[in-house]
Amino acid sequence: MEKKVWFITGASKGLGLTLVNKLIAEGHQVAATTRTLETLEAAVDSAPADQFLPLEVDLSDEASVEGALLTTWEVFGRIDVVVNNAGYGIGGALEELSLGEIKDNFEVNLFAPITVIKKVMPYLRAQRSGHIINISSIAGFAGVLGWSVYAASKHALIGLSDVLAQDLRPLGIHVTAVAPGAFRTQFLTRESLVLGDTQIADYSDIRASHARYLSIDGKQPGDPVKAAEALIEIADSPEPPTLLFLGSDAYNRATAKMRHLEELIEKWKGLTLSTQYETEKA
Ligand SMILES: NC(=O)c1ccc[n+]([C@@H]2O[C@H](COP(=O)([O-])OP(=O)(O)OC[C@H]3O[C@@H](n4cnc5c(N)ncnc54)[C@H](OP(=O)(O)O)[C@@H]3O)[C@@H](O)[C@H]2O)c1
Repeated sequence: MEKKVWFITGASKGLGLTLVNKLIAEGHQVAATTRTLETLEAAVDSAPADQFLPLEVDLSDEASVEGALLTTWEVFGRIDVVVNNAGYGIGGALEELSLGEIKDNFEVNLFAPITVIKKVMPYLRAQRSGHIINISSIAGFAGVLGWSVYAASKHALIGLSDVLAQDLRPLGIHVTAVAPGAFRTQFLTRESLVLGDTQIADYSDIRASHARYLSIDGKQPGDPVKAAEALIEIADSPEPPTLLFLGSDAYNRATAKMRHLEELIEKWKGLTLSTQYETEKA
């Protein structure tokens, strides 16, 4: 396997940390961003200095992201794979969440990847190579009750990735959106997950949905080590997928959503086709 230079956001725990450790063990070079350098440095297994570049970055600050990418370029001489991994879940009925909480989530889950992509593009275009991997979620394809804002931010990331893949293909740059199901990371802990403080009694179904999710913390079916291996495999593929689901739960939700969409489209086909000018009808 060819040794590559990776740039990974949100690396001090969970999937990002697992990926960093796996890549270093396999001999790749890794620039890893975090909000708190000490936590990242303490969490990463022993790493030779020529393989590991820990970077404290504020992903909401363009200059901070730009500086981290420049340092990566200066230290490693190229950037092959960019993983927009940092992200967190937010639950609650839309009207229960403050606009500030909603915007904060979009800032991390959507605008941080956008900033990283905008700032890394000059390097990838100059190389005429590279692979951008955006960690979305199965919620970005088939969301569930009580997580509308999280679903919205992750849907946006899949939509962005889909067209970005088309835009960048002529430049030799690949884009993959990854949609994991439930993986055993810190994702469902109160340190990562945001549940709004306001609770409106009418939304008892949402409370039950949140309780179900919180109860699977530590028992999620997905193994982050296997997810990291899957990411390394697609980065090594000459024709990587533009969208990759990870986990049997993600597969089941995605295929159920496809069936639902097909039924919905066919059921309303008459009305859908009724809106054209008479002259445009086949
Ligand atoms: N685990 C799952 O079940 C699951 C399912 C679908 C999708 N995902 C997605 O997978 C990605 C990784 O999550 P994970 O499961 O590894 O969860 P995690 O263990 O909670 O780790 C999340 C990482 O994201 C960063 N992060 C969290 N909140 C942040 C904030 N407010 N600002 C900046 N960075 C922040 C953290 O980076 P630092 O602390 O190092 O700064 C942390 O290392 C996320 O995008 C998540 O949405 C996870």
